[in-house]
Amino acid sequence: MAIAMTTGYSAQTEGALLCIDAASDWALTCVDQLAASDSHVLIDYGAADGGTAVGLWSKVLDRLHANQPQAHLTLIGNDLPSNDNVALAENLAQQIPRKAKPTVLVSARSFYEPSVAPGTVSFGFSATAMHWLSQSPGPLNSHTHVLASGDADALERFTTQAMKDWNYILELRSRELKVGGRLLTVNLSRDNDGLYLGHNGGKTRNVHDQLHQIWRRLADEGVISEEQYQQGTVLNFYKSPEEFMAPLKDDTSAAYRNGLRLVDERTVYVTCPYRRRWNENGDTAAFADGLMATIRSWSRHSFVSAAGEAAADRVYDELRQRIADAPSEWSLDYVEHHQMMEKVAS
Ligand SMILES: C[S@@+](CC[C@H](N)C(=O)[O-])C[C@H]1O[C@@H](n2cnc3c(N)ncnc32)[C@H](O)[C@@H]1O
Repeated sequence: MAIAMTTGYSAQTEGALLCIDAASDWALTCVDQLAASDSHVLIDYGAADGGTAVGLWSKVLDRLHANQPQAHLTLIGNDLPSNDNVALAENLAQQIPRKAKPTVLVSARSFYEPSVAPGTVSFGFSATAMHWLSQSPGPLNSHTHVLASGDADALERFTTQAMKDWNYILELRSRELKVGGRLLTVNLSRDNDGLYLGHNGGKTRNVHDQLHQIWRRLADEGVISEEQYQQGTVLNFYKSPEEFMAPLKDDTSAAYRNGLRLVDERTVYVTCPYRRRWNENGDTAAFADGLMATIRSWSRHSFVSAAGEAAADRVYDELRQRIADAPSEWSLDYVEHHQMMEKVAS
């Protein structure tokens, strides 16, 4: 599946940076627990251009070097071949002058594939990336996002696909981790009240409903065909805490059999930084531009692949206008699930 973030990803995603910052305490806990070793491999799955995680990896490398000054550290940034992997390499290289003098590498492959040899990773990390599905679970004909669609049949198919994907991701990671290694996933999620990115329980408009309304109007006006309308689907899924934990509570799952165990989990809420700034300065034009760009960064490829660049551009022109017309009714609040795991001897 071709997913590509818009160029300049980290410049457009202040929220993702805050989500990573909110997980840095657990990232440090993970590396504090690593047994002494001659070398450690650290990997960031779905890193985009790596800019949002520079601060996190600085802290993690410094802490691990302080704990184990003799150990050689290797940091790998992973994302799809279609990602801006040159920018990722440059952001990873910012770590090279640190005292730990780490080796840095780029893995331009899907996290639905093995990334490194079995038993090599000491600390695996992923933020706001593993909600993308590996393939379409079939049509979603009445909406652009399954969780906002109210389509029970589609919800069942998407849930099944999401759980198959999550089990496989954890199986792959459980093979790559060495015994004693830690995995920390920071994922967009659905909380126990059903809230998720773009749906904050009605405090402001559901962002997915807004995208869908715009897309539907383009079909009604004949700008896109009915077939293109139906293909415009955001192929991701925000899992619940129970869904995230399921493979670790099932002693027959592949990840569990490989020794992957749940250490801790929590749900963390990150308020929309664009909205917070608008509350302070009332700059509606900047709010409309910034919020539109961050929504575009993760949704644009879905509309481009269905109906091309021009149609997608119409979506974001209209989106910016809607935000500018009613700024108090907009906010993109994050609901993230943190899951800390370790690999034990199996
Ligand atoms: C919202 S960005 C998150 C980037 C960064 N981790 C952060 O938190 O700021 C999601 C990233 O996941 C990547 N991604 C999606 N599916 C992927 C896959 N199958 N394998 C590797 N990366 C993937 C996308 O290319 C994108 O760069």
